[in-house]
Amino acid sequence: MREGTGLETALGLAVAGFAVTVVGRSTDRGAQAVDRINAMGPAHPGRFLAADLSSLDQVRVLAERMAAEHEASGDSLAVLVNNVGAMFPDRRELGGVEASFVVNHLSPYLLTELLLPTLTAGSPSRIVNVTSGAVGAAPSGSG
Ligand SMILES: NC(=O)c1ccc[n+]([C@@H]2O[C@H](COP(=O)([O-])OP(=O)(O)OC[C@H]3O[C@@H](n4cnc5c(N)ncnc54)[C@H](OP(=O)(O)O)[C@@H]3O)[C@@H](O)[C@H]2O)c1
Repeated sequence: MREGTGLETALGLAVAGFAVTVVGRSTDRGAQAVDRINAMGPAHPGRFLAADLSSLDQVRVLAERMAAEHEASGDSLAVLVNNVGAMFPDRRELGGVEASFVVNHLSPYLLTELLLPTLTAGSPSRIVNVTSGAVGAAPSGSG
């Protein structure tokens, strides 16, 4: 996790007393994010889980792990922040679906749907979806 909205959100939640799990593709960047979190002396140490959220299979594995851990520990899942965002100007596809749609829409939707029972069990809980005004520049047709 590099400098940006995601890291700032993670730092803010940790300072507010939440046990923060950061998710990203790079274990090095994830470790740096956890170091930044833990350097603030939070009530709960941060942790990193590696997952490429452009893969719906990895989204499923992540959600299953999170749900199982929360069920086993009895700790509530209070906040899910869907922060990941990406643009693919070359219009590449992932699994036969346009990549921007996968990362920016399908992935957070699937993660949220799979974690809804866990979030509901920990009610009151919150889902925060981070997006960009750049979606307004997307063409409305199929071209
Ligand atoms: N930056 C802006 O100016 C801006 C403006 C408007 C809206 N936003 C929105 O804010 C959100 C965050 O953007 P940001 O620019 O501030 O980025 P950021 O939060 O600094 O970085 C994005 C994070 O997502 C991780 N990530 C990227 N692709 C991933 C993937 N496929 N699977 C898992 N993790 C992935 C990156 O870690 P790894 O690289 O280690 O995976 C990184 O930690 C996005 O939804 C974006 O649309 C940003």
